Amino acid sequence: MAIIFLDSVTSTNTYCRQNIDNLNHADIVRARRQSEGRGRKQREWSSEEGGLYFSLVLKDGLSGIKTLGLLTQLMALAVCKTARDSGVEAYIKWPNDVLAQGGKFCGILSEAIFDGDRLKAVIIGTGVNISQEKIKSEKPFITLKSLGVEKSAEELLGEIIANFTADFALLRASGFEPLRTRYKKNFLYLGKPVTMRVFDEELHGVAEDIDESGRLVLNEGGKRRLIEIGDMDF
Ligand code: BTN
Repeated sequence: MAIIFLDSVTSTNTYCRQNIDNLNHADIVRARRQSEGRGRKQREWSSEEGGLYFSLVLKDGLSGIKTLGLLTQLMALAVCKTARDSGVEAYIKWPNDVLAQGGKFCGILSEAIFDGDRLKAVIIGTGVNISQEKIKSEKPFITLKSLGVEKSAEELLGEIIANFTADFALLRASGFEPLRTRYKKNFLYLGKPVTMRVFDEELHGVAEDIDESGRLVLNEGGKRRLIEIGDMDF
């Protein structure tokens, strides 16, 4: 495992994509700032100095993993645990945003790289708001510093990666089930009415469960729908 630290880059995910053949399993690319930080759904991810921006490359142990979403959810769990260990009442908004006091402080963008039909690598890009002065975002956001966390980006990265590594080993050994229980404990919206955006559709229902593949079970007035890709409004 190596950590490549860049002062500035377009996007750590793009860097990994472009250099994937020279990167090994568990390598991390981290940048002080990104000029073209990317979020889900082609959104921009504001990446001024003061945040943590990194991409983790996974190449081994991917064959048994059912969906890319599970790995993303694992990273959300790792960040949530790290924040909780620092005294923050953090929680997850399905599938992979981490929030506290109604504001988002972490977003995750995972990308798969194929060689023909073979899954060659997964890049898990993670952005954590720590102490940036300026953040551009349409949605409510928050920084860890404003929540009383005094840890540096290096310290937080070390804890996040240690948590993720332990959970990745557990996922490979025992599947998602033990992690699902933990994920559900940190999923604040469980059992509550939610509004979902799934492609162009707006859905209303109760977030009833997270299934064994990490999908959201939405109960729309008695009709259950399994959602693999989508966004929860907040
Ligand atoms: C989201 O919430 O929409 C996902 C945001 C992901 C941002 C991280 S920062 C590191 C990595 N590089 C990127 O360009 N994006 C991810």
